[in-house]
Amino acid sequence: MSNVHLIDHPLVQHKLTLMRRKDASTSTFRTLLNELSTLMAYEVTRDMPLQDVEIETPLETMTGKMIDGKKLVFVSILRAGNGILEGMLNVVPGARVGHVGLYRDPKTLEPVEYYFKMPQEMEERDVVIVDPMLATGNSAIAAVNRLKKLKPKSIKFVCLLTCPEGIAALQKAHPDVAIYTAAIDRQLNEHGYILPGLGDAGDRIFGTK
Ligand code: URA
Repeated sequence: MSNVHLIDHPLVQHKLTLMRRKDASTSTFRTLLNELSTLMAYEVTRDMPLQDVEIETPLETMTGKMIDGKKLVFVSILRAGNGILEGMLNVVPGARVGHVGLYRDPKTLEPVEYYFKMPQEMEERDVVIVDPMLATGNSAIAAVNRLKKLKPKSIKFVCLLTCPEGIAALQKAHPDVAIYTAAIDRQLNEHGYILPGLGDAGDRIFGTK
């Protein structure tokens, strides 16, 4: 579990508990996800490189530090990943955004890609993949496999919730990919849902059930 970062700040834990409640409305769920994603962005960007920038304060010239947001790409795994994007972009508004669409083939149960759109020059960028739930790990692994072909400088994976099975699968396939999560729940059920979890993240974000 060396490459797993559990973000257990009290604000994160508090908001996550509110989101898990089955009676949280769609708008409450979405608002909390937005706030939580902003808080998680704070941890995920902790080791981002800084550049010296000369600026004028009202009193004198100084050398300040700034991050180059354009070098960062948030990659959303559709559709639930989009729920995390806005909160991340609140704090890194200059970041680029990529999207990966995957569905599970009903016969083979393997993830099949139906959409993939990334910014140019990925080899100069650091990638942060976002998906609220790291459950079986199949989509995460497929997304990382595909992204690695573009040779980005680094890849991190951010989720709200995961479980031992999801962590083990992603770490086995991609031990170099750091996982950031607000909680590690007990287990997966036979339908691939996380227990106790929060249900279907996409349905809860978009109100589709
Ligand atoms: N995807 C979800 O939306 N919820 C889970 O519990 C697992 C995967």
